[in-house]
Amino acid sequence: MHDVEVKRRMGEEDIAAVATLLRAAERADRHAPLGEHKWIDLVQGGRAGFAGFVARCPGSAELAGYAQLSRGHGSWAVEYVVHPAARAVRERVVEDLLRAAIGEIALSGGGHVHVWVPKPDAADDAVARSVGLAHGREIHQMRRALPLGADLAGSARATLRPFVVGEDEAAWLALNNRAFRSHPEQGAWDLETLAEREQQGWFDPAGFLLHESEGRLDAFCWTKIHGDEVCEDGARVGARGLGEIYVIGVDPAAQGRGLGRSVLLAGLDYLAGRGLGVAMLYVDASDAAAVHLYRSTGFGVDHHDQAYVGDVAPAEP
Ligand SMILES: CC(C)(COP(=O)(O)OP(=O)(O)OC[C@H]1O[C@@H](n2cnc3c(N)ncnc32)[C@H](O)[C@@H]1OP(=O)(O)O)[C@@H](O)C(=O)NCCC(=O)NCCS
Repeated sequence: MHDVEVKRRMGEEDIAAVATLLRAAERADRHAPLGEHKWIDLVQGGRAGFAGFVARCPGSAELAGYAQLSRGHGSWAVEYVVHPAARAVRERVVEDLLRAAIGEIALSGGGHVHVWVPKPDAADDAVARSVGLAHGREIHQMRRALPLGADLAGSARATLRPFVVGEDEAAWLALNNRAFRSHPEQGAWDLETLAEREQQGWFDPAGFLLHESEGRLDAFCWTKIHGDEVCEDGARVGARGLGEIYVIGVDPAAQGRGLGRSVLLAGLDYLAGRGLGVAMLYVDASDAAAVHLYRSTGFGVDHHDQAYVGDVAPAEP
């Protein structure tokens, strides 16, 4: 049994300790352990519905694991990470973190929960089952090489223009929220969410590409270039050299006419033009339209992330 401390606000020392744990895990696993939304939430100290869970082995000051809870669009989301040095007791650490997170959800009125696990294995499945969670959504990370090959050379490309900070926010938010109206994470963005992305080091309006028909935004392909991610010991980790199709959407009134494909190809040409050799994206495995579009433009599944889901009853008063 590990000591799990619940933190509803993160102070500077807490953030630094968790950041050290995240870097160690990222170096060991070769992928970022916390999703970008969660990381922004953490470094800002936590928004409404936030809780951080810090696990330590008895008698130790070192962090064995960390989980983060946030309130999403109609449900709770949890992610967790275990320190590489505590991997021998990984299942126990994860179980203790998940039980603490589920307890916190119960105290906050209960509700539906998604626990997101990148590259899950049988041990993740077993721990999820032991705390009453079942398999839910699955996200594919898909990749393809750049530049596009001769097979796509003749396909139409949309004419796109870069996003203009300070001018395009309201129109883009309205379009994004229409395109993703039933999407749990992407469908209810507000100005604050967009402004947070504009503050990120990777944000570059030149790669946030917009399409207009008759002066009205009706599609977009927002790209993200992953730079060097360097650990304290100088090791390079993460997704260097990857160009991401970060968010892509077409107005529902304009879907099914080839615009999604031509906007995607223009976005991939943009990334290839920036010298990147690999494109990647995340897509919900059940999104037939998007998965078909990506497969037909040469993307294949690299790995998947699994959501474990359940309904948490409110705690007895
Ligand atoms: C995914 C999306 C961008 C595609 O845009 P679109 O303009 O509708 O797509 P296109 O008309 O260019 O069609 C692209 C391909 O998908 C296929 N397609 C479109 N809708 C489909 C559906 N419901 N089921 C299966 N295939 C579908 C088309 O037939 C076409 O394939 P083809 O060229 O082999 O015939 C658009 O549906 C969208 O904005 N969806 C909501 C937001 C979203 O899910 N974004 C992607 C998140 S990763």
